[in-house]
Amino acid sequence: MTTTTHHWPQRTAHLLNLLLMLVLAGTGFYIHRPLVGGLMGLARYAHIVAAFVLLVNLAWRIYYAFLGQYKDAREFKPQLQALPRQIRYYLFLSNHEVKQGLYNPLQRLAYLGVIILLILQGILGFALGWPQGIMGFLANGLGLAEIRALHYLFTWFFITFVIIHLYLVLTETPQAFLEMFWGERRERNKTSAATRSSTTTSK
Ligand code: HEM
Ligand code: HEM
Repeated sequence: MTTTTHHWPQRTAHLLNLLLMLVLAGTGFYIHRPLVGGLMGLARYAHIVAAFVLLVNLAWRIYYAFLGQYKDAREFKPQLQALPRQIRYYLFLSNHEVKQGLYNPLQRLAYLGVIILLILQGILGFALGWPQGIMGFLANGLGLAEIRALHYLFTWFFITFVIIHLYLVLTETPQAFLEMFWGERRERNKTSAATRSSTTTSK
């Protein structure tokens, strides 16, 4: 018996997200402050294309979470009551992690937060790129300079999330790193069965 914790549709969407975020952050910083000249047109074009692909990927991922073959929306359901105990665990005040299902209560909040932040970042991006378009009311209400500053601030939120995300994955569940990228199937043994619940397939 083997266990698959992250199925290929989820893994592909995650990898695509990661690559697109690299392109968006790279081109975004260039648009913010071009260190070498002559690439602004390309940077803007790549930023917009990557942004569209990211938003389509996000929409598809949300759809898949609810209606896909390996739907996993329940893994993201907030567990606010268990949150203080999980925070105690992260602060080294308790040895017991609270984990029901694939993600602990803090992971669930962080992932939901990132999804909401991506949607907000997209809305700000549309207001920036098309101030007369569908998000024009934002450009009129807040002002383009403010929207630009918020879009830039959110970029730093994403960078902070990824640094903490990487640190926690590598220190807490290094095996999840392999599962997320290469879809490695772990042998079902006492430890994995006790710490993670997931779809079980026979080989
Ligand atoms: C999700 C959809 C997104 C859309 C539609 C979008 C759109 C835009 C647009 C239209 C601009 C202005 C470009 C110009 O001045 O010509 C911009 C700038 C920028 N974007 Fe995005 N973007 C998106 C996501 C992201 C993400 C995820 C990041 C970071 C990882 C990011 C980082 C930046 C940065 C740093 C700038 C420069 C802001 C400044 O000038 O201070 N964007 N974006
Ligand atoms: C080098 C970069 C990254 C690595 C190594 C990484 C690794 C991982 C791993 C191992 C998991 C599964 C955690 C577990 O099972 O306990 C995960 C989940 C997740 N990661 Fe990342 N990640 C990276 C970048 C990103 C980025 C850039 C985003 C978002 C913009 C992101 C968003 C998520 C989300 C939302 C989940 C929940 C699972 C899912 O989406 O199916 N990650 N990541």
